[in-house]
Amino acid sequence: MSGHQKIALITGASRRIGAEISTTLHQAGYGVVLHYRQSKACADTLATSLNAKRAGSAWVVQADLQSVAEINAMLGALIARHGRLDVLINNASSFYPTSVGKVDEEQWDELFGSNLKAPFFLSQAAAPALQKKQGCIVNIVDIYAKRSLPDYPVYSTAKAGLLALTETLAKELAPNVRVNAVSPGAILWPDNKTIESVDAVIKRIPLQRQGQASDIAETVLFLVQQAAYITGQVIAVDGGKGLV
Ligand SMILES: NC(=O)c1ccc[n+]([C@@H]2O[C@H](COP(=O)([O-])OP(=O)(O)OC[C@H]3O[C@@H](n4cnc5c(N)ncnc54)[C@H](OP(=O)(O)O)[C@@H]3O)[C@@H](O)[C@H]2O)c1
Repeated sequence: MSGHQKIALITGASRRIGAEISTTLHQAGYGVVLHYRQSKACADTLATSLNAKRAGSAWVVQADLQSVAEINAMLGALIARHGRLDVLINNASSFYPTSVGKVDEEQWDELFGSNLKAPFFLSQAAAPALQKKQGCIVNIVDIYAKRSLPDYPVYSTAKAGLLALTETLAKELAPNVRVNAVSPGAILWPDNKTIESVDAVIKRIPLQRQGQASDIAETVLFLVQQAAYITGQVIAVDGGKGLV
């Protein structure tokens, strides 16, 4: 049975940008399925706070997106529970440096698994339900998909693939499913970033400041709700960083 509430699945939803996207879609009236891999406590806390605002509007699901079997099981359980899927946000991502000369197969598989393989198999598993609801997919890419981030060749190449996948799936899933991407610049630093390196990055951004998770979430909401004639596009949300 398909309920009245539109349902969005957000991967890597427990913290940081994923949590902001989830909260923004929830405020817009979506029921949100919050995917996590390891951050159960954060996912549970977010679901509890969203359900306190609107009962029966947020759920948590666990999966390691490296595994296609886990992806398919997660989508199967979601459709069985909600009877529909309107929006898929491919946000989950592994991110760490991999210097050429020292990259091993496990790192390649993890970075490509979370940033490219999982978005493909999630989209494939979600497509039949999205087709029924004229739904959409938003992939969270990176400005370094177009010009590789030094010392991050595997991550950058995986994100370049995700950019290509956005265009490919936009054609493959048309006319009933739109597929777009948001490309963040400097939004939230990794936990190990130093103040000096933060200042150096900000100096090179034309708008001279760091972005906020809400800048990404509002752009995602635009693509989901107000972009009925847009598919296969990427919007950079980067303060102009990609220009320099
Ligand atoms: N932060 C930025 O400034 C920035 C800049 C450019 C692009 N982006 C992109 O924006 C998105 C969100 O960025 P973020 O910094 O908020 O992300 P993040 O905190 O680095 O990661 C988001 C989540 O991805 C999940 N994840 C990683 N590998 C996974 C796997 N194999 N299976 C399942 N889940 C996995 C983790 O979930 P658990 O914690 O539950 O394990 C993690 O919390 C990412 O796609 C990122 O590439 C961010």
